[in-house]
Amino acid sequence: MCSIIGYYGNSNAAPILVKGLRRMEYRGYDSVGIATKSNNQILVKKGVGKVDEVNNMFHLDKLPGNVGLGHTRWATHGKVTDANAHPHSSNSGKIAIVHNGIIENFSELKAELQKEGYTFQSETDSEVIANLLQKNFDDTSDIKSSIRATISRLNGHYAFVAMFENGTLAAARYHEPLIVGVGEDDYFLSSDVLGFIERTDDAIYLDNGNFALIDPSGLKLYNFEGELIKYNITKVSKEFADAYKGDYAHYTLKEISEQPDTVLKAGENTQDAITQTIDFIKHAKTVYITGSGTSYNAALVAKYLMSKYAKIKIEPIISSELPHDPESIEQNSILIAISQSGESADVLEAVRIAKNSNAKVLSIVNLLTSSLVQESSLVIGMNCGPEIGVAATKSFTSQLAILYKIADGLCNGCLKPDFDKASKAISKILSNHSKIKKIARELKEVSDIYILGRGINYPIASEAALKLKELTYIHAEGIPGGELKHGPLALMDSNVYVVILNPDDSTYNDTLTSANEIKARGAKIIGISDKKSDIYDHWIEIPKVDESLYPLIEIVPIQLLAYYCALEKDADPDYPRNLAKSVTVR
Ligand code: G6P
Repeated sequence: MCSIIGYYGNSNAAPILVKGLRRMEYRGYDSVGIATKSNNQILVKKGVGKVDEVNNMFHLDKLPGNVGLGHTRWATHGKVTDANAHPHSSNSGKIAIVHNGIIENFSELKAELQKEGYTFQSETDSEVIANLLQKNFDDTSDIKSSIRATISRLNGHYAFVAMFENGTLAAARYHEPLIVGVGEDDYFLSSDVLGFIERTDDAIYLDNGNFALIDPSGLKLYNFEGELIKYNITKVSKEFADAYKGDYAHYTLKEISEQPDTVLKAGENTQDAITQTIDFIKHAKTVYITGSGTSYNAALVAKYLMSKYAKIKIEPIISSELPHDPESIEQNSILIAISQSGESADVLEAVRIAKNSNAKVLSIVNLLTSSLVQESSLVIGMNCGPEIGVAATKSFTSQLAILYKIADGLCNGCLKPDFDKASKAISKILSNHSKIKKIARELKEVSDIYILGRGINYPIASEAALKLKELTYIHAEGIPGGELKHGPLALMDSNVYVVILNPDDSTYNDTLTSANEIKARGAKIIGISDKKSDIYDHWIEIPKVDESLYPLIEIVPIQLLAYYCALEKDADPDYPRNLAKSVTVR
């Protein structure tokens, strides 16, 4: 959600912090701020907007000093205002903090501090950390003790960085990501390696329940009991440095365009884990599959794939729903968790609940350094490279490709998914920009879009609706074809557009019948199919592929349609309003 960053070294901190924040903007982006230490003073600048906007207004990158911290905010507690933007300073102005996560007992702590005379400038939960630190520091005059005393009072989940007036940086991690970058003569603290990858590829992944202190004596890591701990420096994959738009106008377009390659590479480096997953599923009594958003839609595709081809039942669970029905997880079952980021709080909570019932957790993840990886017995890497656009695109088709491989193993090779053919089909679809752009221009004025698909195409209709919502802000809804007559038909009139997912598979004729029923009510029809029909007002042609592979390719034209429609509506496709790539709050 929010991103935090810290710098300690010999270079000017401010431009490094601003650059790091810019690269992590995908995590949250309604306001931005940095603080540096210069001449024994803490200087803070912050404001509402994206990193470049706030920087242009307030010249954050011009703040002097070799130590600093910064933040991009995605509002949870308190509106989007300058005062609520981080960093937050303590009352004395001698400590500044940035925080990612939620302090659940902040009201209680705030009331307690207010009683002691502390005042608060913001509506955030985070500001209590600054004043609590100050109170504890004033009591002990010792930074390490003040961090420990503060941590012992915080409930919830957090990663925070604090800067003290003497220039010491402190950072703590509890169920939110925090990574230390180790440069030649400097240190970085960041929510994501993207925050420092341009400066160093040596990283220390802080364990949950650890804190770091950085001062002239160097870096020291402690557990929350205050014991010094040893650390390992990991080389961060250089692939993270690929997270550039290159010649593309947006990350989203770049990532959509990478799919002919990424479907071929899916799971490539973790073939053994795929084989073992197949084996575990074969011997399991009950298998659940979970995810949020796009990853949940992939889980729904898996349900159809496994029952249709492998004759195995797996039960999809929306991650955020499991806390409301934890007893539904049978003892000693298997939970397959799907997550691009591996940091979605809802998914991590679902995993925790399943583990309470002794479930074995297998995961399909893109970010192999994420919390979900640490929680899993077995991990299959999506291997699709960094995905920066908030709306998931290439990670979805990579998830599907891996699920096809698993289904194929489970049915002893009955599927033989021809990924080369799928990759070529996606390339062909991607060469059709001009037609899709034209349709996007028409959709710009529309207020409701329905997407209809039957059988295994229904989860794709849900994913298509999600893409349209996220990128265009148009109300969009996926409908299982047969359900049309049980309600949605009442909504069909000449103001409505309906996208029909109608590949030449076993659902073709029934779906064409639905299209006729819609047409009779005057709605406009966009047909996504390898077969032409006069019923479509617009036909987006997809190549013919093996019946099982249509779901993998038919989402691509809708990703493009949503992208171009966002441009028509002047919406930023990479950073849709109110959304964040990594939703680390529940
Ligand atoms: C957020 C994003 C969605 C994404 C979902 C799950 O809500 O906006 O695009 O599908 O998180 O993310 P994950 O990283 O767990 O796959």
